Amino acid sequence: MKIAPSLLSADFAKIKDEIALVERGGADYLHLDVMDGRFVPNITWGPKIIGDLRKLSPLCFDAHLMIVEPEKYVEDFVKAGADIVTFHLEATAHAQRLLAFVKSLGAKAGISLCPQTPVAMLEDLIEDIDLILIMSVNPGFGGQAYIPNSLKKVREARALIDARNPACELEIDGGIGRKNVAEVVAAGVDVVVMGSAIYGTPDPAAEIKAMREIAAPVPAGVR
Ligand code: DX5
Ligand code: ZN
Repeated sequence: MKIAPSLLSADFAKIKDEIALVERGGADYLHLDVMDGRFVPNITWGPKIIGDLRKLSPLCFDAHLMIVEPEKYVEDFVKAGADIVTFHLEATAHAQRLLAFVKSLGAKAGISLCPQTPVAMLEDLIEDIDLILIMSVNPGFGGQAYIPNSLKKVREARALIDARNPACELEIDGGIGRKNVAEVVAAGVDVVVMGSAIYGTPDPAAEIKAMREIAAPVPAGVR
């Protein structure tokens, strides 16, 4: 399991320390939620901020674009330092072209699905996708309740990936924490995004380690 703490729940008044904490805890990716106030009813940050954050950390930058017309901006995000650029299928009419464009820029190309969008919508794109992001809340805010139907979508996405593009990573985002991390990993998730479940705790570094233990407990006697 890879863990991608979401900076949406971090305190930007002390962002350098907040990033260092999750690095120390062994985070795999840093999840960066870009919101435009149009695709989702919230606004966060753009390429300038991501470029500045790039100077603070060598972690893989996992940019989740919750914006309309993502084709206009993906190049700016790659230039700013995003290693993975994930856009929403619902936000563009030309997803295959955009996947190819992101990859031509040297980044990994991800596609995200809102809770309303079936995994079957990816059947004609799967070979071109580096990462599938299943939204397990309606995108826009941290700290929302997990939508249980997401587990069915994880299993469907896992089957599609295994059958047609095993190198593609499967990520889940929204409402994941101690109570459901093991369940989603068992269903086939590779990368777990967690915002409030990590940054909402007093010791985010320890919480990352605790999540790994919860998701894949070490059998008694092995330690
Ligand atoms: C929500 C964002 C998430 C958010 C998750 O639209 O895409 O990445 O930070 O926050 P939690 O883990 O608190 O649900
Ligand atoms: Zn996200």
